[in-house]
Order: sequence, then structure tokens, then C-alpha cells
Amino acid sequence: MPTGQSEASVTPPTAPSDGGAVGDRAPAAEAPATSEAAAASGATAASEARQDADDASDTRRRVDNAAETEPLLRVTGLKKYFPIYGGLFRRQIGSVYAVDGVDFDVQRGETFALVGESGCGKTTLGRSLLRLTEPTAGKIMFGGQDISALSQDELRPVRRRMQIIFQDPFGSLNPRMPVSDIIGEGLLAQGVKDRKKRDKKVEDSLEIVGLRRDYTRRYPHEFSGGQRQRIGIARALALDPEFVVCDEPVSALDVSIQSQVLNLLVDLRRDFNLTYLFISHNLSVIQYFSDRVAVMYLGKIVEVGTVERLYKNARHPYTVALLSAIPEADPRRRKKRLVLKGDVPSPAAPPSGCRFHTRCWLREKLGNPERCSTEEPLLRVLETGHTSACHFAEDVSEQAVSQVVATQSVVETAVADPV
Ligand SMILES: Nc1ncnc2c1ncn2[C@@H]1O[C@H](COP(=O)(O)OP(=O)(O)OP(=O)(O)O)[C@@H](O)[C@H]1O
Ligand code: SF4
Ligand SMILES: [Mg+2]
Repeated sequence: MPTGQSEASVTPPTAPSDGGAVGDRAPAAEAPATSEAAAASGATAASEARQDADDASDTRRRVDNAAETEPLLRVTGLKKYFPIYGGLFRRQIGSVYAVDGVDFDVQRGETFALVGESGCGKTTLGRSLLRLTEPTAGKIMFGGQDISALSQDELRPVRRRMQIIFQDPFGSLNPRMPVSDIIGEGLLAQGVKDRKKRDKKVEDSLEIVGLRRDYTRRYPHEFSGGQRQRIGIARALALDPEFVVCDEPVSALDVSIQSQVLNLLVDLRRDFNLTYLFISHNLSVIQYFSDRVAVMYLGKIVEVGTVERLYKNARHPYTVALLSAIPEADPRRRKKRLVLKGDVPSPAAPPSGCRFHTRCWLREKLGNPERCSTEEPLLRVLETGHTSACHFAEDVSEQAVSQVVATQSVVETAVADPV
């Protein structure tokens, strides 16, 4: 976003109708409170927001044109291991391999989505990019600068350019701070000492996200979930960032509010030329708001491609299973869902070879080849033009999926069938 955004004439999005009942939802997930932030669904919602897909396709064109240019973000070999302590002397007895060697690029102006089951490492990856969580290893190039080795002081100017919107609009706002301080905290940390300047910027940011300028003296408990999430977005925008990590920004909101917040994010991306890393477990939402998608499983990226390619031609058995779980918009159409057997393995003891081998329907269909459990598959480019980390990606086909679905037990099909 260009500097001086507040002076730019910005048409605020339509005033939100998500006012009203306060405290009408329970907190959904852990999210850090404001000081750290300063340092740093639904198919219905997606279809309501469908008109904004046109904006997304504009960006796709821009992304295609920019394909040859240097990416805004380049991540290489990124790892984050959390130590596990135990025993009498609280020694380290193991590690949670939350993110275990991921590589990807994000182009300027692009919305790059990250999808995967709960616990696969999406949030850890997003936070590691901003160094809100210190990576264990790997390189993060942002705007051509290696930010992985910068000291906290050196990081400060970079932090302004990289912001995060947290999943939980309740836990992520400090209940003891008025809105002016919640949003102004980051500005202060960036050296904006003049109170008047700060207040003006806070009010501008509120207006940009469709809230009233005079909300600055209110406290978080006086707002509804949707309004709080708008405050979280205003906090991120106040610093004029170029890159924003949106960590499940609508998953804690009522379905009726989700599309409003998603539409706001699309408008802001267009108006301020933002680049998003959009984290979600909802493939319907991702389809309408993203340019490219990376699918994560147990700390690894297993497939990456444009939305068009991936949704039409998924070539990783895990992606195929996730896509088969998207509910049909038309209730008269019955869809067979590919059910994954077994629980997600612990990220503290990931399976050998391909991490997905303990639940892979394709492996079973191919007669359990040994290679799946002994050799880790690396991301490779397929003839479809996208990348997949499966030794047998070429064997994934509609016919193979139909055969597997046909052999699923009646109980599995009944449980999985969304209709
Ligand atoms: N601070 C921490 N200390 C120890 N383990 C952690 C910590 N933060 C995350 N983990 C573990 O790392 C793994 C990945 O967690 P993460 O929150 O990144 O997953 P996620 O994909 O964002 O899940 P969700 O969809 O539920 O938000 C999980 O097993 C989690 O328990
Ligand atoms: S490598 Fe084997 S286990 Fe892994 S996804 Fe491919 S077929 Fe399945
Ligand atoms: Mg998460």
C-alpha cells in the first residue's frame, strides 16, 4: 500500500449490518492479544460473495503478467519445531514438527491460500513468516530482503509492511484497551509519537473498514463479532502494509457475517494493492477469493496450483479427498464423498516416507507400494502445470476416485454424504 494511504480518497465499504448483539458467540480458538499484534463457513458465505470473484480474476490476470517478476515473498526450507518437555527434570523429550520444510513464492497482488486440516501447521507457518513465531530453520525473502536473520530492531521497519489478521476476533483484542489504543499501539511501536497524527490514522482506518470514526473511545466488549473482526482488520491496515496474513479471518463469525467480512477483504485488496496469505480450511471460500492454493498436510505442502487447475485437476490423493467434501450448492444433486480412514497422525511422530501413507486411498488401491512408506515424495511439476508431492500423482483420476468411492461401506457413505 502506498504511503499516505490515509490521504487517498477511499470509498468506505457499505456500512456493516453486523452491529447488534454483543457477546453472542463463544471464543473459537487461541489468538494472541494486542501487544503481539502490534508487533506484528461456509459455502453460503462464499456464494453470497460470488460477485467479487470478478475482482479476483482481475488479480489473476495481474498475477499471470507478474509471473516473470520477482515474488514479494519467497520461502525456502522453512521449519518450525516446538520442543516437548517431560520427565522429572523437564528435559526435551521430543519435538512437534509443526512446519517441516516448506517452499513457496507469493507474487505481488496475489491471494495465496493455505488449506489443510486442523493442526497441520497453517497458523504456525503464517506466524513464522512474520517472525511472530521464530522459525527453527529456513529462509524468508520479503521484497528481495532476507528477513530470516534480522534482529528484532532491524525487523521493525519490515513489520510495518507485513501484518496479520487473527482468527479469533474476541481473544485478539485486549479487553482493557479502547479502540484508539488497540489500533494505535502498532503506530506507536513504529514511531508515530504524535497523538493527533495517530488518532487521525486510527479514525481513517476505522472508516476504511466500514466503522464509524467516533468508535475510537469504545472498548471491545461493546462490539459484535463482525465489528471486532473489522477492528482487527483496521489494526492491520493502519500501518499501510503490503502483505497481510489472514488467518481464518471469518471462521469464528456467524455465517451471515462471513460474506460481509470476506467482501471487505476483497475490496481492500483491490483498493490498496494488498497481497494476502489467506489461511482457511474452507475450500469453498478459498475458491472464490484466491488465485493460488497450497494444500498442507502434517507440516508439509503436498500440492500447489492455481485455483482453476487445482479444483479441476487435483493430483494429490489428500487434495482429492478434501475437494470431495465440499457441499453441493444444489441440494438435489447427491455427491459421493471420499472418506479418509483413520485419525490424523501426531505431528510429534509423523509417518515415514510419505506422511499421508497411513490414510491414503490411492496407496491402498495400488496394493500398498513400499515406496510410499520409505521414500518422501517431493513436490514436482505435473503435465497439468501444477505441483504435487505424490509418487503416483499420474494415477489419480476421476475413474480411480469413483472406483474407491464405490467400495466404501454404506455407513461411510451415509456419514460422509452431505445431502
Ligand atoms: N506454541 C506451541 N507449542 C507447542 N506446540 C504448538 C504450539 N503452537 C502450535 N503447536 C502445535 O503445532 C501444530 C500445528 O498447529 P497450528 O496451530 O499451526 O495448526 P493449524 O493448521 O493452524 O490448525 P487450526 O486449523 O486448528 O488452526 C499442532 O500440533 C499444534 O498443537
Ligand atoms: S506417495 Fe503414496 S501414500 Fe503418498 S499420496 Fe502418493 S500414493 Fe499416497
Ligand atoms: Mg490455525
